[in-house]
Amino acid sequence: MSVPPWLRRPDDVNALVPALWPANVQRDVGGALSVGGVDVGSIAETYGTPVYVLDEADMRARCRAFRDAFAPATVYYAGKAFLSKAIVRIVNDEGLSLDVCSGGELATALAAGMPPERIGLHGNNKSMSELTRAVDAGVGRIIVDSFDEIDRLTTIARAKGVTPRIMLRLTVGVEAHTHEYIATAHEDQKFGFSVAGGAAAAAANKVISEGVLELRGFHSHIGSQIFDTGGFEVAAHRVLALVAQIRDEHGVTLPELDLGGGFGIAYTTQDHPATPSELAAGISTIVTTECAAAGLDVPHLSFEPGRAIIGPSMFTLYEVGTVKDVSGIRTYVSVDGGMSDNIRSALYGAAYSATVASRSSAAGPILARVVGKHCESGDILVKDEFLPADVRPGDLLAVPGTGAYARSMANNYNHVPRPPVLSVFDGEVRVIMRRETEDDLLALDVG
Ligand code: LLP
Repeated sequence: MSVPPWLRRPDDVNALVPALWPANVQRDVGGALSVGGVDVGSIAETYGTPVYVLDEADMRARCRAFRDAFAPATVYYAGKAFLSKAIVRIVNDEGLSLDVCSGGELATALAAGMPPERIGLHGNNKSMSELTRAVDAGVGRIIVDSFDEIDRLTTIARAKGVTPRIMLRLTVGVEAHTHEYIATAHEDQKFGFSVAGGAAAAAANKVISEGVLELRGFHSHIGSQIFDTGGFEVAAHRVLALVAQIRDEHGVTLPELDLGGGFGIAYTTQDHPATPSELAAGISTIVTTECAAAGLDVPHLSFEPGRAIIGPSMFTLYEVGTVKDVSGIRTYVSVDGGMSDNIRSALYGAAYSATVASRSSAAGPILARVVGKHCESGDILVKDEFLPADVRPGDLLAVPGTGAYARSMANNYNHVPRPPVLSVFDGEVRVIMRRETEDDLLALDVG
């Protein structure tokens, strides 16, 4: 039996590790979890499992924490983490702006009444139609990613006689300490204009000299699930050096700078994220120092956290179906979802934690692996966790930290319909995305 070195054998297998759970989740006297005063048993009975459950007060508090800590910077919630009309309204209510990266996300933002001037459009391969919709809607900024896109947007701007506001996404050559697939600022990948290779300066020269698009500044996103500010320091240094170079060559000082998102969250006890205030203070010091060194005024800053706003506010509730003791190795606990509702473990080797949610147990801990119902041995939800030795079919099991990139990356592998998303706020449960049905799947299958 191999227990990973970081995994603590709990003294009390029923105890919740506070950093992993939304603020309003607790284990009640009876032993079951509740969220915002609502018992998970009643949620499962009414809405079925699997189900994603959002603690809306927790998410709103995170929005406010980022907004207040980073002020006067603008905080764009990165909708790719999870977007629905209700989420757009929450983000808008709490005074955040919104980053979208496809026509579908833009449509959702507009359908829910997000003011277009507070929307930014991303994407490394935006189509003419996506760019046209963004320009027609009057989005506040388009983050341009390639020379082809400069040409496409210039064509649209000329045809419509408008001057879209843009930022150029730069590749700053930072090796962020995160999974290769979610690091985005090293040279050998698809995003942005390379600073070191000269493409960034050439793109800025082109936009400034053509004068069709309004260049507001540069954008850098170094990756995701990042815990230290070292990468932001290198990024700020390299981007601001280019801002100074543009000033010297064109006499133009770009007024804005976006340093992206990527702030890490706690999925297990091995993760120790900084608070929004700590992040804001650290990054502000970095930018002030780098600007002073480059002889620049501090530009208007913006950031794009997704995971850190919604990730910790949601958990997924499953029902245990099968428990299999693979002798001497570990216990496999199969639940009624899997890689279709959370592909992150399978795709990135992401670690999660889990707890039996419908009761507490007097049994001691056993090393368990929580797996799904899909036809692959890689269909793992929680690779290593201690669960009570009497975990059994019919138990509800909760996996925290699933607000970001779980529902948004959900899929229909094995024709499994996608779970609903519930929001719980002040004791009220609201379905914000309904459960997909087999009829939905069949409706797409036109035969
Ligand atoms: N801004 C840009 C330009 C981005 O590309 C991203 C994420 C964000 C902001 C938000 O990053 P966050 O704060 O959420 O880390 N599917 C992967 C994550 C991919 C992130 C892609 N871009 C995962 O499940 O970990």
